[in-house]
Amino acid sequence: MTDLQTLQTELLAAITAANDETTLEAVRIAALGKSGSVSALLKTLGAMTPDERKEQGPRINGLKEAVNAALAARKDALKNAALEARLNTETIDVTLPVREPPAEIGRIHPISQVVDELTAIFADMGFAVAEGPDIETDDLNFTKLNFPEGHPAREMHDTFYFNPKPDGSRLLLRTHTSPVQIRALLTRPLPVYVVSPGKCFRTDPLDATHSPVFHQIECLAVDEGLTMADLRGAVQVFVDAMFGEGLRTRLRPDYFPFTEPSADVSMECHVCRGASTRPGGAPCRVCRSQGWIELAGCGMVNPRVLVACGVDPEKYSGFAFGFGIERMLMFRHNVEDMRDMVEGDVRFTRPFGMEI
Ligand code: DAH
Repeated sequence: MTDLQTLQTELLAAITAANDETTLEAVRIAALGKSGSVSALLKTLGAMTPDERKEQGPRINGLKEAVNAALAARKDALKNAALEARLNTETIDVTLPVREPPAEIGRIHPISQVVDELTAIFADMGFAVAEGPDIETDDLNFTKLNFPEGHPAREMHDTFYFNPKPDGSRLLLRTHTSPVQIRALLTRPLPVYVVSPGKCFRTDPLDATHSPVFHQIECLAVDEGLTMADLRGAVQVFVDAMFGEGLRTRLRPDYFPFTEPSADVSMECHVCRGASTRPGGAPCRVCRSQGWIELAGCGMVNPRVLVACGVDPEKYSGFAFGFGIERMLMFRHNVEDMRDMVEGDVRFTRPFGMEI
């Protein structure tokens, strides 16, 4: 074996034996560094005769290349081994909780739950959700809904007004969701089928059956050829979906400026199912022994409202109904005090059981 072969064998053995990057680097320096063994051999080329150089040059360079290649291969192998070792030790259990769960889990408020439920029922019937602002103009909350200035029906709504503007007009907190009917008719192409849930405000006290802030949901359909039968049908579908099938509904004459004719919708009590007493003869508390529960105001959209919104009453007709969400929740779930709905006590929302 020549000296060169011996050196190559030794160097390759040292490279294979190097078990970490520091040792490998030391082997590299010892061979290829400034005063390394291979570098020393390369330096001898300068002093050789051209014939010697011709013979020794390829051998020494071949040695250098073999060492370099072995170093690179070993470096790769060490890197892969290090990664492999890390992957084997660093296991992550993705099923572990990220952090401690809070003591109380948040819940979707029953009012939001019922709004979602109602909008889904109406969406199934082809109604789109339309929303309007809480702060409304007198024109949209009243005038365009056929409550003229000074009309006694305005007194039925105990209204929160803002201070008058220089031109004398006053903004107000909307007293019902009906102004969204006007907004929908003024902005949407006909036919219009919308359902509008939202907050309403009236200067009522906060007691078991009143709240100055409450929610309503409004339903409006304006199309060619709609009749009271369509209104009844929509109301029945909604009662079936909300309270289970088989409860009758009835309409009795009422008055609202924006509908003509107007009616109130009642449904058979879902608890006593119209019997007005509980099994065993006790009076039904949910319907106060009436057998019926008043559900909503409704009617055929007053042609004056259509005209105010630029809709031709000769071609189009419509129906609308609207009702209070808290009241409906109260009789559906037998909640006796409306204040429970706004006080944020988890003992109230917990039984509704819908965790976020
Ligand atoms: N906006 C009425 C109220 O707050 C409720 C109502 C009655 C809405 C009749 C309607 C309707 O859409 O047709 O008292």
